[in-house]
Amino acid sequence: MHEAKSPLRLGVNVDHVATLREARGTLYPDPLEAAKQCVQAGAEGITIHLREDRRHIQDDDVYRLHEALDVPLNLEMAHAPDIVRIALDVKPDEVCLVPERREELTTEGGLDVFRLKPVLRPVIHQLRETGILISLFIEPNDKQLEAAAELEVPYVELHTGTYCDSDNTHVDKELQRLIQGACMAHDLGLNVNAGHGINLDNIDEILSIPCLDTLNIGHSIISRAVMVGLEKAVREIKQAMLDYSQQKK
Ligand code: PXP
Repeated sequence: MHEAKSPLRLGVNVDHVATLREARGTLYPDPLEAAKQCVQAGAEGITIHLREDRRHIQDDDVYRLHEALDVPLNLEMAHAPDIVRIALDVKPDEVCLVPERREELTTEGGLDVFRLKPVLRPVIHQLRETGILISLFIEPNDKQLEAAAELEVPYVELHTGTYCDSDNTHVDKELQRLIQGACMAHDLGLNVNAGHGINLDNIDEILSIPCLDTLNIGHSIISRAVMVGLEKAVREIKQAMLDYSQQKK
């Protein structure tokens, strides 16, 4: 049986608070203060992406957030040696391995776990040894899911970006791909997170994906926060998640 897990968790990605700070080289706005407000408003976890070009989150942010937060910190990162070194030092609760190209606007496509298996195996081993829970950010296809299961990671995060950005002609097919991917991940014994491009307009369809554990949402919440404030922006998403689960009962 492939049903939604309950309660579904919300992880808020606060990268773009740091984007605003880095735009001017100021000390504000502070992603840690933002993260605390998100938790206050109901976020069950906080996500940050330490990119190789340090365009938003800085090394010091990773240490500060891990030290100060009392909800799990999920660090998104490439498997580059200098970033892995920082993760091993900080020991965040969770690491989500993502692909990364410097010139991209945001993470494009999932990690090619199938091809990178030999490279990822020792990195995953090292991170796991310190007690970090590992997730792999992947496209919902059989080859990637099987490769993730072979690496014995506890989580995958399904890339919802293609679905969220797709036009009317492809939207049903993309949602079906996510639904089938989530069912297959569940059958392979993997916990299923989802993220990228989720907003108040598409969250109901995303919530129709079975077996979800956590939704990781960043850009739309921080954008909405500019208009209505961060706590309200987080509460709106939490309410949409709650309304969906009530309606399914
Ligand atoms: N999950 C992963 C793995 C990501 O790389 C990102 C973007 O940093 C997100 C979730 C959040 O995506 P968005 O900012 O579009 O909500």
